[in-house]
Amino acid sequence: MKINGGISRREVLQGLTALGLGSTLNQSVYGQFFDKWSGVARPVETWNPLRHLSAVRPDKLTLRAAVGTTDVGNGEKGTAWLLNQSLPSPFIRVHRGEKMRVKLENELPEPLILHWHGLTPPEAMDGHPRLAVYKGSSYQYDFTVENAASTYWYHSHTHHRVGKHAYFGVAGMLIVDDEEEEKFRLPSGKREVPLVLQDRRVDSSGVIVPYENPDTMEGLIGNEPFGNGVNYPTLDVDTALYRFRILNGSNARIFRLARDDGKKIYLIGNDGGLMERTVAVDYIDIAPGERSDVLLDFRDARPGDKIHLGSRAFFIKDGLAKPDDLNRQGYPMELMELVVKNRVRDRRFIPDILRPYKGPDPADAVRERTFRLTSNRDRDTRTMMRHQINNKTFRFGRIDEEVPFGDTEIWTIINENNFSHPMHLHATHFRVLSRRGGRNQVMPWEGGLKDTVLIHPKEEVRLAVRFTAHPGLFLLHCHNLEHEDTGMMLNILVV
Ligand code: C2O
Ligand code: CU
Ligand code: CU
Repeated sequence: MKINGGISRREVLQGLTALGLGSTLNQSVYGQFFDKWSGVARPVETWNPLRHLSAVRPDKLTLRAAVGTTDVGNGEKGTAWLLNQSLPSPFIRVHRGEKMRVKLENELPEPLILHWHGLTPPEAMDGHPRLAVYKGSSYQYDFTVENAASTYWYHSHTHHRVGKHAYFGVAGMLIVDDEEEEKFRLPSGKREVPLVLQDRRVDSSGVIVPYENPDTMEGLIGNEPFGNGVNYPTLDVDTALYRFRILNGSNARIFRLARDDGKKIYLIGNDGGLMERTVAVDYIDIAPGERSDVLLDFRDARPGDKIHLGSRAFFIKDGLAKPDDLNRQGYPMELMELVVKNRVRDRRFIPDILRPYKGPDPADAVRERTFRLTSNRDRDTRTMMRHQINNKTFRFGRIDEEVPFGDTEIWTIINENNFSHPMHLHATHFRVLSRRGGRNQVMPWEGGLKDTVLIHPKEEVRLAVRFTAHPGLFLLHCHNLEHEDTGMMLNILVV
C-alpha cells in the first residue's frame, strides 16, 4: 500500500520505528510531532500542475513586495507576501559578468531586505539585516555578478522575520550561466526544470496555515510539499534526460530526495556550481538553503508511467530520541509526480568529468577557527531556550570574527546540541574537508564548493574557507530559519 501515491507504507512505518514510534500510524502519533500544530498530510487526491518559472533578467528589474493572493493548487487561493505578485518570487536568470540592477520596493507591513544567497556582491548589496527598509521605502541593488554558473536563490533577510517572510513567499530562484558550463550542453529549455521545494502547514481542507509561533527549537516543519509554490506538484515529461535544479527553500525541513522507481539520481552540481565529477546516488540529503543540480533519466520509462520524487524517511543519530520529545525531521513526504507522456529519442550523454576544483586548498591554511553550535538554557527549568553560536546570540553592532581577506583558514564547526543545523556563510564558498562523529564522512553531495553545510548532532565538520570577493561585513548563520531568526547568527568582518 502506498501513502500519498509513492512512498510505501512499509517505508513510512520503518521510518516511524526508527524514530522510536512503534508501528502504529495514526493521528495521535502524528499529534506528538506537532506541538502547536497537529496537521497530518492529506492523501493526495489531485496533483497540481507545476508552475513553470519563466526567467526575468535582472538588469533594471523592479521587485515590488506587497501582500497579495496566489493560487496554490487544490483550487485554493492563499494570502501571501509576494514580490511582483509571484509565488515563488520571480525567477532571475543572469549571465556571469552581467549586472544586477534591481530595485526593491517595500509595500509590506514589515521591514524588508533581500539577500542573494550564494552570490558574493559587495557588503552594501548583500542584504545584511541592518539594511532593511520600511514600508514605502526602496533599496537599490547594483553590482556585477562575478560568480560561477550555479543555482542560487534570494530571500528576505530581515532579522527575526526571515522564517515568516520565506514561508509567506519572499523567496525565489536565481540561476547564473557562464561559458564554462555551456560547453557541457546540459538539458535545457523544457528539459531544464528549476524547482523550489518548500514545506508548509496545510489544514485538512487544503488551505495554508498562517505562520505563527513556530517551535523555535525544531524550526517550522510543514506537513505538505510545495514545488514552485504549488501544493503537490505534477509535471509531464518525455522519455528523455532532464536537468532539475533543486532548491530546498523550506524553513527547517531536510529532504532525503529520491526517486520511487529505484533509479539513480545523477548529481552534477550543488551550491557552488558543477562539481569535479558526476556522482550517481540513490538519494541526496538537501537541507534548507542547499541546492542540488541533478540529471534525471527517464529514457527507459514508458509513456503512462508515473514516477515520484519523494523525501525518504531517515533517522538522525543523537537527535532527540526521547519518546515525549520527538525529533520531527526525517518523516517521509511525497514531493512531486512526474508523468511520462511522449516517447522521444534523446541521445544526450551524462557527462562524467565536469569542472576542475578552484577553491581554497587546506594546504595553504594560515589560521584555524572554531565555532561551537550551542544552546542556552533557562536557569530554573533547565529547558533549552534558543540556539546559539559560541554561546552568543546575534547582535547587530557586535563584530564576532575578523577574517583577513584572501587568507585560507580552517574552520571547525562542532554541533554540541541535539538539533541539526545547516550552516551558511555569506560572501564566499568553502570546501567541506571532513566530518567526525555522526555520519563520519563527507557525503557524496558535498563535493565542489558549498555555501551551506548540514551539521547533524555531535558532528564536527572541518571547512577550508577563504574570502576573495570583497572585504566588508557579512554573516555566518544557521539556515534553519527559526534558528536564524532567534539569533543563531554571527557578524563576520572581512578585513
Ligand atoms: Cu540564504 Cu543569510 O541566507
Ligand atoms: Cu547567503
Ligand atoms: Cu540551526
